[in-house]
Formats: sequence, structure tokens, C-alpha cells
Amino acid sequence: MDKPAILGGEPLLKEFLPITRPYLPSYETLEADIKKMMASGLITNDKYVKKFEETARNFLGAQHIVAVSSCTSGLILAERALRLKGEIILPSLTFFATGHSLLWNNLTPVFVDVDPETFLIDPEKVNEAMTSKTSAILGVHTYGCPAPAKELEQIAHDQHITLLFDAAHAFGAKIGNKNVGTFGDIEVFSCSPTKVMVTGEGGVCATPHEDLKKKLMAGRNYGDDGTYDCDLLGLNARMPEFNAILGIQSIHLTNENIEKREKIYTIYRKGLSKIPGITFQKFPQNVKVTHKDTPLLIDPHTFGMHRDVLLSALEKENIMTKKYFFPPLHRQKLYKEYFPLYDKKLPHTNHISENILSIPLYSSMSEEQAHAVVHSIERLFEHREKVAPK
Ligand SMILES: Cc1ncc(COP(=O)(O)O)c(C=O)c1O
Repeated sequence: MDKPAILGGEPLLKEFLPITRPYLPSYETLEADIKKMMASGLITNDKYVKKFEETARNFLGAQHIVAVSSCTSGLILAERALRLKGEIILPSLTFFATGHSLLWNNLTPVFVDVDPETFLIDPEKVNEAMTSKTSAILGVHTYGCPAPAKELEQIAHDQHITLLFDAAHAFGAKIGNKNVGTFGDIEVFSCSPTKVMVTGEGGVCATPHEDLKKKLMAGRNYGDDGTYDCDLLGLNARMPEFNAILGIQSIHLTNENIEKREKIYTIYRKGLSKIPGITFQKFPQNVKVTHKDTPLLIDPHTFGMHRDVLLSALEKENIMTKKYFFPPLHRQKLYKEYFPLYDKKLPHTNHISENILSIPLYSSMSEEQAHAVVHSIERLFEHREKVAPK
């Protein structure tokens, strides 16, 4: 095999391969609605937002949908509207917005470990972390793979506490025949450009509770329920009409998008599983995943180099990767007061975070590009002794 680029060889990809790209509807499918919206002069939170909410509701089979400006604002408002208090149980292996929503509400994060194979919140650890101060569980469908929602629903029911999901990655995911978006008291999706369903910036709150829907509608509008006499501390978290128009078409593309992602994932799975020291996230049985991210767990001893070395070597091959999620929340500066409490309790989180690397996956990626990623990693493995000398 030729030398890898980091050793002076030719990069296997001639052009830079980003980690993701949004799968966008054609401009023609948006044009007529954009024109109508512009002519109406109503450019935020109006009829296209309503239509987007209706389209999301039909797609998910959820009872109530409230569109917001982002997943972060949706989580902040949901926790506020639910009047959560005290401690909230969540994984530390997640994007910081999950934890930040709690800090914005003066809630105390209680971090629990994840399953070492699925990388998802572990219900047993949730049970162990429960105290008289626990008011909610905040699960995460990490990388687009559904968390064990039914087990968490049982715990929340038995303990009489609230169950929320950060579903940022999981629009289009399922457990059995049931869509993510229909579990717990509320699930909040992100529609930012790295997600499967996109609105530019935006979020979707899905809840079975009508009273919560009403509070969220007020909450996204500063807390005004129409009386101009606020009872809830809200935000400006409205979705503009432009974004809703994009979102409506993006929802129509979701299943097709996931099918295309699945094809790229299969190429990775076949090619990379053969390489010693590389493992994939294990998906529970009977779930549909979105492949929002494609994390590889790199065993530095067996693979012959650390994740950080692989990242630099792939950069030279023109392949972008990301250390999602490193560091985990309890090891970040903002959460430093939690470090002494949790670091020893989260061995799987720490291990995964130190060894995980997400590789590019998006639906407009070609099969050739996916094979080139596989060959780049194979080639680095072949040259491991020179790439990472002992
Ligand atoms: C798990 C998770 N939660 C929340 C967010 C925040 O989403 P948004 O940018 O829509 O606020 C992200 C963004 O990537 C995420 O990965």
C-alpha cells in the first residue's frame, strides 16, 4: 500500500470531505411559499410555522408540537414550563446544550454513566442516582440512536417524576413502530444544519400534554399567553417563517435521507469492522437510527494509535472528523464543581470520550468517498508503527 499522507504520501481524498452536510430540498420546492410569505409581510411564527408543526405532528404521530428557535431554547423552556426543581438525572456523554439547559434553570445536574456498548444512558444507573430531590430524568438519543425510552418511562412512572428527552439527533428514529417524539413527557428535536431534518436553526417540541403545549407557546413568546400579563419566564424563541418553509420540505425528505445515510453506514460497517481495534456504537434491537453521527471507538493498543493521532492523520487525508463528545460535561470548565462528585462514577463515559471519533456521514456523500475513508483508515492501520511509533 502507498504511504498515508501524514507520512508524505498522496491523500486518498483529493478534496476536503466535511463531517456532514445538510440534505436540502431544491429551491424550486420552496420558491412559491417564500414568495407568498414575502408578499404577506408575515415573516415569523405565522401560518408556515403552523403548517410545519402540523407536518411534524403527522410525521411523528405526536399529540402536540411546538416549533421553537432551537433545541436549546426548547429544552430551557420545557424545564421552566414544567417547573422542575432540584436534581435532574442525565448522561455526561452528550453535547453541552443538554446540560446548559439545566444550568439556565438553576437545576442541579446529576450525571450517570452510559452503557459501554450503546453509549446510551443506563437505566440501572438512573435508578441508583435517584434521591428525594430528583424531579426529572433527561435522556438523550445519542448520535441518533434511541435511548432505552420504555425502561426510562417505567422508572419515571414508578418514581412519579418527569421524563424529558433531548432528541436533538433523532428526528426519524423509532423504537419498534413508535417514533421518537412520542416518549416521555416531552421530547425536543434540533433542526440545525448538522441534523437530519433541518430548518437552518430551529427546534421541535413534541408532547402528549396539552397544558404543556400551551405553556411552550407562551414561553417561546416571552411568556405571553395572550393576556400581556406573563406568568412564565419566557424567551424570544420563535421560529421564523423562512425556516418553517424549509422545514416542511425537509420533513418530507427525512425517510429518504435516512435510507441514503444507511447505505454509507453499511459501507463503513463492512469495511471498518474488519480492522482490529475499531468498534461501532451497538444499536439495541428493534430500533431505527438516524445516523446523525457515526462514532468509532478506537482502542489505541489494538489499533496501534490513539484517537487523537488518527484524527490528525485523517486531516492530512482531507477527511474531517470530530471528537463527539470530548470532554464529557463533568470534565468541562463550566461544570467543574461536579467533577469531584462524578469523575470516578463515570468510567464508561470517560473511556468512550477519550477514545471516540466521529467520521463523515451524510446522504449526498458518494459511495466512492465512503470507500476512500475506509481505505484511508486501513492504510493508516497498515502503517501504524510509523504513524505512531512506540
Ligand atoms: C445532543 C444535543 N442537544 C442539543 C443540541 C443543541 O441543538 P440546537 O443547536 O438546535 O440548540 C445539540 C446540537 O448539536 C445536540 O447535539
